Amino acid sequence: MAPPAVKYTQIFINNEFVDSVSGKKFATVNPTTGKKTAEVQEGDKADINKAIKAAQDAFKLGSPWRRMDATGRAALMNKLANLIERDVEYLRDLEIMDNGMTVQLATGSVMGCISFLRYGAGYADKLHGKTIPLDGDYFCYSRYEPVGVVGAIIPWNFPCLLMGAKLTCCLTVGNCVVVKPAEQTPLTALHIASLVKEAGFPPGVINIVPGYGPTAGAGLTESMDVDMVTFTGSTEVGRIIQRAGADSNLKKVHLELGGKSPNVVFADCDMDYAVETSHIGIFNHSGQICCAGTRTFVHEDIYDEFVKKSKARALKRKVGDPTCEGTEGGPQIDQEQLDKVLELIESGKSEGATLQCGGKRLGTEGFFVESTVFSDVQDHMRIAKEEIFGPVQQILKFKTVEEVTERANKTTYGLAGAVFTKDINKALTVANTIRAGLIWVNNYGMFSPMIPFGGYKMSGVGREGGEDGFKEYCEIKTVVIKVPEKNT
Ligand code: NAI
Ligand code: MG
Repeated sequence: MAPPAVKYTQIFINNEFVDSVSGKKFATVNPTTGKKTAEVQEGDKADINKAIKAAQDAFKLGSPWRRMDATGRAALMNKLANLIERDVEYLRDLEIMDNGMTVQLATGSVMGCISFLRYGAGYADKLHGKTIPLDGDYFCYSRYEPVGVVGAIIPWNFPCLLMGAKLTCCLTVGNCVVVKPAEQTPLTALHIASLVKEAGFPPGVINIVPGYGPTAGAGLTESMDVDMVTFTGSTEVGRIIQRAGADSNLKKVHLELGGKSPNVVFADCDMDYAVETSHIGIFNHSGQICCAGTRTFVHEDIYDEFVKKSKARALKRKVGDPTCEGTEGGPQIDQEQLDKVLELIESGKSEGATLQCGGKRLGTEGFFVESTVFSDVQDHMRIAKEEIFGPVQQILKFKTVEEVTERANKTTYGLAGAVFTKDINKALTVANTIRAGLIWVNNYGMFSPMIPFGGYKMSGVGREGGEDGFKEYCEIKTVVIKVPEKNT
C-alpha cells in the first residue's frame, strides 16, 4: 500500500496553520520501516503561550463560544464527527504510518474518535445540576460550568481515539482546549485540525500544538493561565505534571497512567475461550495498551495446559507489516520502546522465569518484537511488577480465591482487571475485591465512550468517559437565594 500524502504539518492556532516561533521542525518516523515520513513544525513554550491566549480569548464572556447554546455545541461536534467519517480511510492510513498499528486497530482508533464526539454531542444539553433542599428560607441549586482553558496531552498509542476522548470531554461541557499530540504521532491530529476549521468552530476553541513533552507539554502544565490539564501517558510523567500543577496555579489535573492489570483464570472457565481472550488481552496492539492483561493468574489445576495452549497461540500470531491483510500485530512505536521491552525480557530470563517462546527482536527493519510468553513467573520479578508495554505475556500460578485477590492487588497500579469463570460467586468476589477502575468478567478490553475509565492508586486521578467523565471537566457552582420567610 502506498503511504498517504501528508497535507498538514504546521501548528494550528485560532483556526490558522502557522510555523513555529523558533522556526524549528521535527521528523516523524514510520515504526514499520524506521524511516522518516514528514517534518512537522516544533511547538515550544512560545507557541503554547500563543495557543493559550487564543483559547482564553475564545472563552471570554460574550464570545461566540460562550454565547452558544449546548444545542449549538452539539451541532458543531456532530459536524466534526461527520467530517472525520468522510475522511476515515485517509485518517486510518495516516494513523498506521505514524503509529504502526494494524488496519483493524487504526480503523477502531478513528471510529472511536467519531463515537466519542457523537456521544458527547448527545450529552451536551443533558448536564443537569441539582436543586438542594437547604435548611432555612433559601432556594439552592447547583450547576456545572466549564473549567475554562484545558491543556490536553496525548500519548502515541491511540492518537486519534485519545484525542477524540479529550476533545469530546472539553467541548461537551463548553471548555476551550490546547492539544499537544505525542511527538511520535502528530499527523492525524493536524488533519483533524483542518476539519475543526471546516466544521466552523469559532477560532481559538480548539488549538493543536505538536512538540515534545518537556518543552511544549510543560508549557501547558506550568502555565498560570491553563485551568486544567488532562494527560494520558506514563506514571513517571504523570507525577511531573501533578507537581507542575501544584507549583503553578493549582490547576485541576486529570491523569490516566500506567497499569499492570491482573487477569484471573479459574479452572471452571471455558479453556479455549479464556486462552484466546487472554492472548488478545495482552498481545493486542503489540502490548501497547495501558490496561493490557499483563499478569495472567491461572489456577494450578489447568496451569500446564493453559501455558501450552497460550504458547501455541503466541507462536501462531502473525506479526509484521500492519498494512498487510491478516497481520495481527505491528511494531513497537520507537527505538526507545523496543529497547525497554527487550531489556525487561532479559530481566525475566535472568530472574528465573521460563521463556516459552519469543524473547527477541524480530527482523532488522522497524521496531518489531517476537510474541513472547513467560511461565513460572513469580510476583517479585520485574516482569510481574513493571509496565512492559510490549508483546510479553506473564503467566503466574495460584491455588485459592483469597490468595489470588491478595496477589492481584499487590501492585502500585489499579487500572483494570479481568476474571474468567462460570461461577458467579467467584466472578463477583474478584470483581469487587480488585482495586482497579475497570473489571471485565469473561471478556477483556471492551471499551466505549459510555463507560467511565480511569485508575485507582498510581494508575491515575479522575475518570474519562460516561457522565462521570464529563463532570471531571467542570467546576460545580452552588447558588443560594434568600426567599421570603416561611411563606409556604
Ligand atoms: P510519556 O508519558 O513520556 O509521553 C506521553 C505524552 O506526554 C507525550 O505527549 C509526551 O510528549 C508528553 N510528555 C512527556 N514528558 C512530559 C513533560 N515533562 N511534561 C508534559 N508532557 C510530557 O510516555 P512515553 O515516554 O511515550 O512512554 C513511556 C512509557 O509510558 C511506556 O513504555 C508506557 O509504559 C507508558 N505509556 C502509557 C500510556 C497509557 O496509555 N497510559 C501511553 C503511552 C505510554
Ligand atoms: Mg517519555
